[in-house]
Amino acid sequence: MRTQVAIIGGGPSGLLLGQLLHRQGIDTVVLERKTPAHVLGRIRAGILETGLVELLREAGVGARMDREGFVHDGAEMSATYGGTGERFRIDFVRHAGRPVVVYGQTELTQDLYDAREAAGLPTLFEVDHMAIHDADTDRPHLTFDRHGRAQRLDAAVIVGCDGFHGVSRQAIPLAVRREFETIYPFGWLGVLSETPPVHHELIYANSDRGFALCSMRNANLSRHYIQCALSDHVGDWTDRNFWDELRRRLPPDVAEALVTGPSIEKSIAPLRSFVTEPMRWGRLFLAGDAAHIVPPTGAKGLNTAASDVHYLYHALAEFFVEHSEAGLDSYSARALRRVWKAERFSWWMTNLLHRFPDMTAFDVRMQQAELDLLRSSDHAQALMAQQYVGLPY
Ligand code: APR
Ligand code: PHB
Repeated sequence: MRTQVAIIGGGPSGLLLGQLLHRQGIDTVVLERKTPAHVLGRIRAGILETGLVELLREAGVGARMDREGFVHDGAEMSATYGGTGERFRIDFVRHAGRPVVVYGQTELTQDLYDAREAAGLPTLFEVDHMAIHDADTDRPHLTFDRHGRAQRLDAAVIVGCDGFHGVSRQAIPLAVRREFETIYPFGWLGVLSETPPVHHELIYANSDRGFALCSMRNANLSRHYIQCALSDHVGDWTDRNFWDELRRRLPPDVAEALVTGPSIEKSIAPLRSFVTEPMRWGRLFLAGDAAHIVPPTGAKGLNTAASDVHYLYHALAEFFVEHSEAGLDSYSARALRRVWKAERFSWWMTNLLHRFPDMTAFDVRMQQAELDLLRSSDHAQALMAQQYVGLPY
């Protein structure tokens, strides 16, 4: 088999890139390790920056998002100490001139699969033993097994959209690759419930018991999180214990208004910040989680994958249509400049809102002062709003 662009990974990054390239008349093959059902079964944040909203519309897959997505003009921050709490709102539109859209990543991925299928574009599911060959030449190729048969795909360009646990990052020689990582000393216990959201916007809560977040998927599907110990297991948490602990971390009026119900999904996710440099090796390019990971606090995972895809799609269009390599040559440095700003924002929000096990009394005062500065300063709120809705591509 042969194609112009071989895309490893059928998650949001790979599918969005494939759809955008198709609209430029560029052939792609998407190769996915799992089944569509497995990919679509992943519960992930759906806070879409304006840039991603516009990219999805450009890709021709924005119709359902425009119909069913929720426009959020702001979000609430709360700080609760010793049972008393205060809340303040970050006004995205006032400070940054635009909102965010809440639309589940599962829905967005479904829309991308539907569009790819409707266009008759090849997606190979359940591929195994993926290996990248000759990435540092102008004739790279992939080998993999599928349905018990060894196969080969030749391509002009290979894009690794295979997430943090994929193979593409490892194809960049260690002598070339630099990795940067910090692992946070806690996790997020998340619960999905068929209950109405406690508030029409998200509530990010700092409390002396740890972080909590009240989010949503739609008017009758809520998504809540509480910070938990790394040693916790999902089985340690009954629904009742979860709801009781969530209430303790929220301002009393919010805790009172919370509607609880049985969890339809419950899981614990670790938190890490990670970046690999460069995001290119010869004709191999990395995009999305294959190259970088953020803690979910700032909802930057999907949105930073989107800016990678934006830069790479334009670079590949220049390469195949205008026969210029300028975009490909500048891709890694250009993408990383925005990646590192998203990493910093996610790290900052995580440090602002979580109770770290080794925090001293001084550290707690510093965190409270930072929250008080954010509460009281228009400039501080503007800086947060501009990053939350998304810095320019
Ligand atoms: N071969 C083929 N496919 C692979 C391989 C492999 N060796 N390894 C991983 N994959 C697939 C995974 O099964 C997954 O479907 O690559 C896909 C990677 O998708 P994501 O992990 O979702 O990463 P990405 O597409 O970059 O999207 C980033 O997803 O994980 C969230 O928080 C993240 O919101 C962010 C978004
Ligand atoms: C979610 O709805 O899953 C969500 C929202 C905002 C975040 C993280 C997760 O910062």
